[in-house]
Amino acid sequence: MDSIVQRSGRGQAAGPIAVYGATGHTGRLVAAELAARGKDMVLAGRSIEALRALAGELDAPARVQVADLDDSESLRAVTENADVVINCAGPFSRSGEAVASAALSTGCHYLDHAAEPLYVKHLFDALQGKARENGAVVIPGMSFYGALADLLADLVTAGMSQVDTVTVAYAVSGWRMTAASKKTALQLNGTDRVLYTDGVYKTGPGGGAPESFTFPPPVGTRSVLVDYPAGEIVTIPRHVGARSVRALMTTDTFTEDGVFSSENLDAAARAQSAFTIVVQATSTTGTRAAFLRGEDIYHAGAITSVEAAARLAGNQSASLGVLSAAEAFSADRFLHALQQRGLFTISLSNNGSV
Ligand SMILES: NC(=O)c1ccc[n+]([C@@H]2O[C@H](COP(=O)([O-])OP(=O)(O)OC[C@H]3O[C@@H](n4cnc5c(N)ncnc54)[C@H](OP(=O)(O)O)[C@@H]3O)[C@@H](O)[C@H]2O)c1
Repeated sequence: MDSIVQRSGRGQAAGPIAVYGATGHTGRLVAAELAARGKDMVLAGRSIEALRALAGELDAPARVQVADLDDSESLRAVTENADVVINCAGPFSRSGEAVASAALSTGCHYLDHAAEPLYVKHLFDALQGKARENGAVVIPGMSFYGALADLLADLVTAGMSQVDTVTVAYAVSGWRMTAASKKTALQLNGTDRVLYTDGVYKTGPGGGAPESFTFPPPVGTRSVLVDYPAGEIVTIPRHVGARSVRALMTTDTFTEDGVFSSENLDAAARAQSAFTIVVQATSTTGTRAAFLRGEDIYHAGAITSVEAAARLAGNQSASLGVLSAAEAFSADRFLHALQQRGLFTISLSNNGSV
């Protein structure tokens, strides 16, 4: 992978990277990373005052542009000269299709931070033809939840035949949700899950009694929620020939003090989360596993999206269309680039034990 694909929608001149929803917590982290990389950028969102204030705080020049989700012309004005738009305005069930459609109609690549499986599935179903016709790449969930497990699943299953089950297990502590994360979580609670069982996507309530899962030390054996709503349930089967894909999440992630009452926390306090993501794959010939361990899930998500945007702006996607992270980029190279950046450490195990 990582071959050069030339988009049909733009010439060779490099355009800016646009950030929609730039004034939220994730948008600010994305903008700061773009500034640190010296990227030309456009900050977009619904409040000109907030956008101007953010631009004034950055260590690099940035243009600002107001755009409303219900005004497609204003969104097109954001994307028409940009190489890539990173949508940070969640929930994405509200913003995603509008921003992605504007991007496609102007030949601009689109990334977002969605962790909403029904929305992720919808984007694949609704925009695939249009993305290919317009020579653009669309990657929903190019963030902490979504992309990292998708890439890790590709790494773990490389060379494995007849994969039976891929299990993604998250141990997250210290997650203090932003306003949009909380809104998204509350919307997901009670919404149908996307399930992938016996080679077929299904939509249904999912869930059931918590199970236990053994994470690498020091996390250890923990109670986990089953059928955790995760976009990678949609994306992993696109490139891993597994019979089933499931996602688990530590139960006590959601019972910690403050997880749902931290909308107004400052950025430094919100950075105190820690994570382990395990991906385990079983087949008739054995089990393989890998895990990522790091801190600050919002920072990890923001840098992941900027890394992808930089690669798309440099035409470094394996193909065009609505893609998962691992369909667009070499999992090995992408994850190792993030490891070098200090986002996490990666450990691989050929016998499945972590
Ligand atoms: N997949 C992952 O791992 C991952 C990681 C990080 C974040 N996320 C998701 O990304 C989203 C943003 O998170 P956040 O931490 O940045 O939340 P946040 O701090 O609450 O910021 C939300 C941003 O979205 C904008 N927004 C919300 N509704 C909008 C609307 N109707 N029109 C225009 N703009 C709108 C807000 O604009 P105003 O400032 O004008 O209110 C703000 O800029 C959430 O859905 C979260 O779940 C996912």
